[in-house]
Amino acid sequence: MSKKFFITTAIDYANGSPHVGHAYEKILTDVIARYKRLSGESVHFLTGLDEHGQKVQMSAQKKGVEPIGECDALAAEFQDLCSRLTISNDDYIRTTQTRHKEVVQSILQKLFDEGLIYKADYNGYYSIRQEQFVTEKERVDGQWPEIYGEVIEVTESNYFFKLSQYQDWLIDYIRSNDTWIYPRFRSADVLNFLKEPLNDLCISRPKERLSWGIELPFDQNFVTYVWFDALVNYISAIGYGTDALKAYWPVDYHVIGKDILSPPHAVYWPIMLKALGVEMPQHFLVHGWWLSSGSKMSKSDGEVINPLDLINTYGADAFRYFVIREMNVGQDSEFSLELFQSRYNSDLANDLGNLVSRLLNMGHRFANGIIPEMQILEDEERAVIDHWEKVKGSALDLYEDFQFHKALEKTFVFVAELNRYAELRAPWKLAKSEDADDQKRLGTTLAFMAEGLRLSSVLLAPVMPAISNKILKLLSTDPIDVFDHHLEWGNSLSQNAFGEKEILFPKNDT
Ligand code: ME8
Ligand code: MG
Repeated sequence: MSKKFFITTAIDYANGSPHVGHAYEKILTDVIARYKRLSGESVHFLTGLDEHGQKVQMSAQKKGVEPIGECDALAAEFQDLCSRLTISNDDYIRTTQTRHKEVVQSILQKLFDEGLIYKADYNGYYSIRQEQFVTEKERVDGQWPEIYGEVIEVTESNYFFKLSQYQDWLIDYIRSNDTWIYPRFRSADVLNFLKEPLNDLCISRPKERLSWGIELPFDQNFVTYVWFDALVNYISAIGYGTDALKAYWPVDYHVIGKDILSPPHAVYWPIMLKALGVEMPQHFLVHGWWLSSGSKMSKSDGEVINPLDLINTYGADAFRYFVIREMNVGQDSEFSLELFQSRYNSDLANDLGNLVSRLLNMGHRFANGIIPEMQILEDEERAVIDHWEKVKGSALDLYEDFQFHKALEKTFVFVAELNRYAELRAPWKLAKSEDADDQKRLGTTLAFMAEGLRLSSVLLAPVMPAISNKILKLLSTDPIDVFDHHLEWGNSLSQNAFGEKEILFPKNDT
């Protein structure tokens, strides 16, 4: 069996409801997964939930419930978001699952046996109110900020993972693999971080302080939590320790946000894998942030409207279109309702929606509801075919390079071109002409609009799967599994029935 194209998202913290950042990362990964499937690859798409840690334990304590109850409710909420967004993930891992905990423990044991995990005293400042360690850096004018309450100096024993011995190897690895991190400029952040000597990574908490973690197999008074727990999901989900692993690993892309590249994904994770003798991930795809008035968006930023409500109002595909069209992968992007509505109205309702409705309308009025043959080929038609050939060539390359916003832009320029072609040919005028050539032009115009629309829909399938299928259905043709020959200009629709008139993108001014 050949290796699958394996792609992952970060696993989301179970410390609050999903927000637009979570939605975006899943959509972005889903677009790649769908694009790869349509390109004929066998894909495995993993996402999930990061459930252990102080915040989850505290919020459960406050409510007087078990942490797992909190996690179950959030897992349902996150999975519901996936289904509302038509995310095509093949698996959903939760770090509280046995399959995950067993792998974390076996890895801890192995690294402990090899002397790569050791126990040592940790000396630091501890905030009693926040129940967390704080560092000197957090002092303001020599004082601890009010939110920390009383801060005391404590010495605590903990377990540490040896990072430093792999520092030079990692620097070398990054320098000699310049496509490891996309976009490339992010490698500089990591190399910068690696300029300072690496401290070993504290991987444990004593149970009396934190019990909501995975027990260390060699010391039951401690749990592991955060990165040593979360990162392992990428291999626990695909059968680390069994033969199954090699059908997936090395992962093709870890899709993550820029806040968790360095150090967790580009330093801790590679070193953990190196220490375990597991191959390196092939690539990281690092996206930017959705911002609101310049700051990173997360759950309750006092937004007037929760962006995720737009999914209910406008539909999953419109939401998917907006985030993929607006975000240049790797950069940050502002989210605003005005921007959303303007894209929705201009691109979706006016350009694409209008093309569909006028075509169906004219198909019933002028062609008895049957898609005509292409009967004539004049300059107007040649221009449409030429334009399509250019779009097809560049859009696929742009998809390959994660330039989805540009691929969509080009596709929508073509859609607008089809509308212009219709204006130019003016079937409503041709219909009144007795001239035999004008009758051929009339049929040809409808056939060209239909074919252009079909091809645009095929190209849009990774981003707007439901709309794409709906349009193909309105042209009485089947949804596609692979691009294959479906992106070739042709005459396959002739004699198909036009579907009933339908408004794909109703005007909606929330
Ligand atoms: O970091 N815009 O979880 P998380 C774009 N559990 N992306 C955003 C965003 C925003 N405004 N806010 C968050 C964690 N994200 C860990 C990961 S992986 C082994 C463990 C992205 O819920 C963020 O960059 O805080 C990250 O990739 C993902 O959402 C989950 O963030
Ligand atoms: Mg975060």
